[in-house]
Amino acid sequence: MEVRKVLLEEHEMPRQWYNILADIKMNPPVGPDGKPITPDMLAPVFPMNLIEQEVSSERWITIPEEVQGVYKIWRPSPLVRALSLEKALGTPAKIFFKNESVSPPGSHKPNTSVPQAYYNKVFGIKRMITETGAGQWGSALAFACSQFGLECKVFMVRISFDQKPYRKAMMEAWGGKCVPSPSPETKAGRDILEKYPNTPGSLGIAISEAIEAAVSDSSGSSRYSLGSVLNHVMLHQTVIGLEAKKQFEKIGLYPDVIIGCVGGGSNFAGLAFPFILDKMNGKKIDIYPVEPAACPTLTKAPFVYDYGDTAGYTPLLAMHSLGHAFMPPPFHAGGLRYHGMAPTVSQLAVEGLIQPRSVNQLDAYKAGVLVARTEGIIPAPETTHALACVVEEALKAKEEGKEKVIVFNWSGHGLLDLGAYEKYFSGELKNYALSDDDITSSQKVFESYPKPGILKSR
Ligand SMILES: Cc1ncc(COP(=O)(O)O)c(C=O)c1O
Repeated sequence: MEVRKVLLEEHEMPRQWYNILADIKMNPPVGPDGKPITPDMLAPVFPMNLIEQEVSSERWITIPEEVQGVYKIWRPSPLVRALSLEKALGTPAKIFFKNESVSPPGSHKPNTSVPQAYYNKVFGIKRMITETGAGQWGSALAFACSQFGLECKVFMVRISFDQKPYRKAMMEAWGGKCVPSPSPETKAGRDILEKYPNTPGSLGIAISEAIEAAVSDSSGSSRYSLGSVLNHVMLHQTVIGLEAKKQFEKIGLYPDVIIGCVGGGSNFAGLAFPFILDKMNGKKIDIYPVEPAACPTLTKAPFVYDYGDTAGYTPLLAMHSLGHAFMPPPFHAGGLRYHGMAPTVSQLAVEGLIQPRSVNQLDAYKAGVLVARTEGIIPAPETTHALACVVEEALKAKEEGKEKVIVFNWSGHGLLDLGAYEKYFSGELKNYALSDDDITSSQKVFESYPKPGILKSR
């Protein structure tokens, strides 16, 4: 019988995260004057121990024992062979996935919420404030805060708040508070509500609200937390790829193709980054970040300096961006509705080390349903974007008669996204075609901003 799951023992869990900043050149975050941001400028937003990680170029960073202890609630996660999917597609490819849906909140997000809560606690912070798109990140931070005895406040993008009421209940079960964004609680929220009272909200707006709420807490004991995009988030997620490497070693295989969906880039980075160094050293691997065609950051937007949030509270980051005022259409994968992309992932795309792809909503759901009916797990709408690419690659391997090893990241389950599945089955979901004008009109802002250099790491 073929092996279906490759497992690691707890003592085989990685003890260090991999920091890709040791191996690639990056444009620094800058202010509007083009001057690099210094760590002390970020101190009101993040605790200094996380800021130090954000700028560190040490290749390996130790995972604190307290973090490893909480990781053990669900880690190491299984590397699963998608045997039934292979059979259904009749492909000679061997398809594997890292099942990150097994965490308590149901996604990869606690790989970073747990260390973030730990470092905030060590720094003496009492309350963490964040935004959430799909609700996965908000619930992951609420879970992590409950593990370390911290308060948690979440601004949830309005459209997801309405579509997924149980995510709020989940956050409350872990002691967190959740409000819809835009909200009247912040200036950023009030400004948007005044202009667009019926807005579905966006991650960019919710980030502005969360930053504002954190820095305006006069007690000084609140800090902001981001679930994607930043270097330290990518760093924490590498536990996924480091485990996967060990699991492949156990069965004597190595991936030819690596696939992950991308919103801000973190679950993709988590799986792919530990393999990138091998690629830089000459290994042949095709690495595909997959984004929604309705929010085509890597595939259609330029590499520029832009703000990470709508109100412009963050430093300018060198990334692929649709413009910080871009309002993505209301497609059903809240975690992928973000105007920008992690600077690290953007840099790899600029250097041609990864090949971005995009898929539309209906193809994503079609693949999601096929995989649910074969592998049994109902994927999060975000994950279905990776699945559409997996199916395409597996069919290509069939056409070419190649026994490729494909691995993808199963970033989350969709058990709290069933409303979207219901709409898909009743034919209510549609694809959103963006015109060139939709895509470029929010990008005029860049003209006056500093320009990032095109750097080559090797
Ligand atoms: C299940 C799931 N997958 C993917 C994403 C996209 O985020 P990232 O690109 O940072 O992994 C999200 C974000 O909310 C998510 O909830």
